[in-house]
Amino acid sequence: MKLTTARLTIEPLAERDIPDFVAYRQRPEIARYQSWSPDFASRDAQELVASNPAELPPLDGWVQLAMHHDGRLVGDLAVHTLAVGYELGVTVGEQRQGYATEGMSALVAHLSPSPLFAFSDSRNDAVAALLTRVGFVRDGQEPDFFKGEWTTLDGWTLLPD
Ligand SMILES: CC(C)(COP(=O)(O)OP(=O)(O)OC[C@H]1O[C@@H](n2cnc3c(N)ncnc32)[C@H](O)[C@@H]1OP(=O)(O)O)[C@@H](O)C(=O)NCCC(=O)NCCS
Repeated sequence: MKLTTARLTIEPLAERDIPDFVAYRQRPEIARYQSWSPDFASRDAQELVASNPAELPPLDGWVQLAMHHDGRLVGDLAVHTLAVGYELGVTVGEQRQGYATEGMSALVAHLSPSPLFAFSDSRNDAVAALLTRVGFVRDGQEPDFFKGEWTTLDGWTLLPD
């Protein structure tokens, strides 16, 4: 399956995306609030692609979606199928170009009217701005021990009207 927006095509991450995907996952500022670390390697990406579902939303588990602009990988989205609704994630290799907003907006529209959820480190101002921009509301906070230090995990929800 494929979603299209004004600038983007959005489809499951595939073999051809691996070099660019690994390159931005290795940047410390991009890895900082994410589950992976800058030692993320091509073999990690290969494992992810090998088990990546083809359908959106996935029947269960996560699907990792590539965002392409003019054939170039500019970032990725992730969708996790929950018992009720979906959890979303997002990363862009090219920051502040509007790609994350454009991709997340398309994903929200595609998954609507299911309840949508996201989680973020409360120090991650960029994702807070993005989630607010596309309609999420911050509705929970809990302490979180992450990458060797205590921080706060914010919970975000976008409920159907
Ligand atoms: C979180 C993250 C995806 C947000 O990305 P972002 O670059 O801030 O968001 P966008 O791609 O939507 O870009 C928005 C900016 O582009 C600008 N922009 C430029 N051209 C634009 C266009 N055509 N359309 C919309 N916005 C545009 C907007 O004005 C906005 O600028 P601002 O930040 O000064 O307000 C990014 O910081 C990231 O990848 N972080 C690392 C991974 C991470 O932590 N992910 C979240 C884990 S929960």
